[in-house]
Amino acid sequence: MKSKITLKDGRIVILKHASREDVDGVWKNFDDVVDEAIYLPIFEKVNDYEKESWYDDIKYGREVCIVAQIPKVKPPSNIAGQCEITNSEWEAASHVGVLGIIVREDYRGIGLGEVLIDCAIRESKKIKNKKKIILSCFSTNEIALRLYQNLGFQRIGIRKKQFFMNDRYYDEVLMEISIDDYLEKHKN
Ligand SMILES: CC(C)(COP(=O)(O)OP(=O)(O)OC[C@H]1O[C@@H](n2cnc3c(N)ncnc32)[C@H](O)[C@@H]1OP(=O)(O)O)[C@@H](O)C(=O)NCCC(=O)NCCS
Repeated sequence: MKSKITLKDGRIVILKHASREDVDGVWKNFDDVVDEAIYLPIFEKVNDYEKESWYDDIKYGREVCIVAQIPKVKPPSNIAGQCEITNSEWEAASHVGVLGIIVREDYRGIGLGEVLIDCAIRESKKIKNKKKIILSCFSTNEIALRLYQNLGFQRIGIRKKQFFMNDRYYDEVLMEISIDDYLEKHKN
């Protein structure tokens, strides 16, 4: 799977499954969002061992990660964003995918998040036979919540004061979508 996408401001990216050459770019984006310190409940950046074990899961088809590669830019600066669908921790929930998304700051607000999620949902059904997608998000992350709602994710609950960061508590919003419902709503 490889597709060329023109974003709302005219820039072009290539959507594809992550491969070895993308690993540093993907984790650079992750580290930058950890530095922003308002979107993810994480303090530590990843180490090389964690990067390798993450890539093994992608390489052996255990998990799905779609990247948006910027043409003619060298790694690790060539990944504009990424959307992962990981597995649920429970054996009896192998039909459930857990969505995580990051768009690099200079590529936000021009439709990339939406196309990354769309592609990752479709690929997770095709490759991993996922039936539903779940996610969670800080209640303060209005942009992400708006994006998920626009796509049809249902808000199914809230964990009050679930995270403590920057000297304050954050509520965690839980959302989900059935892939068949999503595909029905987004026929290509
Ligand atoms: C959340 C995130 C993935 C959204 O990606 P994006 O590429 O900026 O989003 P898109 O451009 O596809 O926007 C899709 C929708 O989101 C909403 N949105 C995007 N930018 C917005 C902004 N600045 N203000 C309000 N809503 C906005 C809009 O509803 C938009 O749809 P529309 O353009 O039809 O109105 C991105 O901002 C990001 O990576 N943030 C940091 C990491 C993060 O929060 N990850 C999610 C953790 S749960």
